[in-house]
Amino acid sequence: MSLPAEHWREARNLRLAACLRGADPMLEALGLAREGVLRRAVGLTLEASGCSAPLGARCRVETSGGRWVDTEVVGFAGDRTYLMPTADLEGLLPNARVVNTHRRGEVAVGEGLLGRVIDSDGAPLDGRGAVRPENRVGLAGTAINPLMREPISRSLDVGVRAINALLPIGRGQRIGLFAGSGVGKSTLLGMMTRYTAADVIVVGLIGERGREVRDFVETTLGAEGLRRSVVVATPADRPPLARLHGALRATAIAEWFRDRGLHVLLLMDSLTRFAHAQREIGLSVGEPPTTRGYPPSVFARLPQLVERAGNGADGRGSITAFYTVLTEGDDQQEPIADAARAILDGHIVLTRRIADAGLYPAIDVEVSVSRVMQEITDAPWRARIRKLKQLMAAYNTQRDLIAIGAYQHGSDPLVDEALARWPAILQFLGQDVGEAADIEASRAALARVLDEALPPSNDPARKPA
Ligand SMILES: Nc1ncnc2c1ncn2[C@@H]1O[C@H](COP(=O)(O)OP(=O)(O)OP(=O)(O)O)[C@@H](O)[C@H]1O
Ligand SMILES: [Mg+2]
Repeated sequence: MSLPAEHWREARNLRLAACLRGADPMLEALGLAREGVLRRAVGLTLEASGCSAPLGARCRVETSGGRWVDTEVVGFAGDRTYLMPTADLEGLLPNARVVNTHRRGEVAVGEGLLGRVIDSDGAPLDGRGAVRPENRVGLAGTAINPLMREPISRSLDVGVRAINALLPIGRGQRIGLFAGSGVGKSTLLGMMTRYTAADVIVVGLIGERGREVRDFVETTLGAEGLRRSVVVATPADRPPLARLHGALRATAIAEWFRDRGLHVLLLMDSLTRFAHAQREIGLSVGEPPTTRGYPPSVFARLPQLVERAGNGADGRGSITAFYTVLTEGDDQQEPIADAARAILDGHIVLTRRIADAGLYPAIDVEVSVSRVMQEITDAPWRARIRKLKQLMAAYNTQRDLIAIGAYQHGSDPLVDEALARWPAILQFLGQDVGEAADIEASRAALARVLDEALPPSNDPARKPA
């Protein structure tokens, strides 16, 4: 067909559609909406014309063999609508039909989700049949008025000694777990799934290796852990929109349990992959890469996701959330790490240097921060945390000298004390994956490390001036 003829036909269709809508305004509600036509497919972006659907609406595109692929409206320009698929694009044909389903992203929720492993569309991955929904909630959630939110005032036991004692976590806090690849983020999240005092655990495995999903469900959670958990898994090979939806779905499920008054632990591995998915979407619809290759929508999406976690209104349940953030090449200034640090209520940094020394969990106590510590700890406890950080900082400034035996005892009383307490500090920080340490035990262990009497030769108080 020649181009003018095509334009003429399109214009006629538009006029016809307008007349029909004028005749019966309920036409769209009856599902008799005008269909669009697929004009272009480049990479993962589809362009349709003649399909007037709002941003975020779901459209279906027909493929060869009569199959339909679900897509979402991610942008438009003139009469062109940009769509992105939530599943694999196979058998796509030019001029395929595009139908607006008049639905937005929805999440089926219910008690039946407990113990289940689902994908970003809510389809079961564990081969145990469909999940029976009790209700449906929006994928995007509903914002809580910040003034109505219950403040963070109670601590949450996460079962990890170094965190419980030195970086106490509050119920409803949102924390980032920052580390380079292979430093132990997933293992630490695994420990928390087993030991945290929460009613429900929602795990979002976003954009990570597919192999790890099975490992996480079978080994880390195990049958016992899975019983109180919901796992939403969207591995790296899924389209970017599916990865985005995986994180939104996990958050929506956590919100539903929270709104029923439960205390939820939400673990997202990883926030970086969520940002990468949004970057792929933004760039492919033509957004400019403004911050080191990231388009602006990434930095708008991150707080939208993270702000959904936290305490509910008027004491109705809580979502305490941990988001892993990959700091590429251990670069803490990487834009996603930087943005995440600004919007979260604390960050725990895992360091390769510590992991390489065989000390797990490899938490770098000196640079990790919990921003709600003031509200959930008392003064003597905070004094001990400060003291331990000072000792570690003193030791680390002289680390090289100590390693080669060149440090002169007596040159710095704080370093002398750190040296004397060092074996006890290492023992306190290290924790086996199979071991749990509750808050009381962690606090007592911290007190033991710092209050233990030192031999006279090492006691700074007895040193001559
Ligand atoms: N607590 C621990 N005890 C012993 N070994 C550990 C511990 N935590 C991590 N490791 C070691 O580090 C390896 C990587 O851990 P993990 O997969 O948790 O890292 P990650 O930061 O999630 O990696 P990635 O960035 O690749 O997802 C593990 O295979 C294990 O050998
Ligand atoms: Mg990992």
